[in-house]
Amino acid sequence: MKPSLHTFFFCFMDTIRFLDETQSTNEDAYRHAIQGAPHGFSIVAKTQTKGKGRLGRAWACPANSGLLMSTVLRPNLPLQEIPRLTLTAGVALCKSIEKLTEVSGFGLKWPNDLFFNGKKCGGILVETSPLNSDAMERFAIVGIGVNVNSLKADFPFDLQDKVTSLTMATDQRYSITEIAEAVRASLLKYIHCHEERGFEIILNQWRALDCTLGKEMEWVTPGKDIVKGKGMGPDASGQLLVQDEQGTIHKVLSGDVLLKR
Ligand code: BTN
Repeated sequence: MKPSLHTFFFCFMDTIRFLDETQSTNEDAYRHAIQGAPHGFSIVAKTQTKGKGRLGRAWACPANSGLLMSTVLRPNLPLQEIPRLTLTAGVALCKSIEKLTEVSGFGLKWPNDLFFNGKKCGGILVETSPLNSDAMERFAIVGIGVNVNSLKADFPFDLQDKVTSLTMATDQRYSITEIAEAVRASLLKYIHCHEERGFEIILNQWRALDCTLGKEMEWVTPGKDIVKGKGMGPDASGQLLVQDEQGTIHKVLSGDVLLKR
């Protein structure tokens, strides 16, 4: 990116900015990225009023009880590697949460949901600048939401059997600031590893954390068809493979994957 007044300004900015309330940290980070925010610049909010999830869904989190963080990435990677960042971010999140909580058993559901004991406790939304933008101006925003100190009753009734939090999983409460710093450091470390050593190493780590391998699942295709089958993990490019009841293997390019209970 060409040096500008914004770039100069951002050089002297904190690398994590903490807000009490915002609509969506992803929206904020995207705006800052357009204005020149550097690689690693993160925004953390206590509350979001319009949090965004994958596939156009909302991300709701009880106030002051979760990690809501978005980080600007300007990875030194060719264009075809950019969609793979989503898996890299999942590995970074899962590893940092295991280290911080000192509890094993956290896992990933493709592409990057954080799971514990069959229940979701975090998710990641990656948004990118237009992929035809100049390589020097290309960026990705990695938005991470984790249920941290929430209890079962804090979630809407219809979600209570499907979601969990770090506190529910480990019986401990956590400082959101410490979690934000640890997750951010892990994210930057794994992105660096992806840049320096390639995607295969990341993919192998993702596979070791896969909590859906061999499990019965339903793939809801973008056309809303339902393919029932078994998860076979991601292929070399990071796309999930699902084997249906007839033995045909489908490559999941987009759409939703639901784990059968
Ligand atoms: C998902 O599982 O659907 C992804 C959820 C991502 C939510 C996070 S919270 C911080 C950041 N800001 C947003 O608006 N969304 C992401």
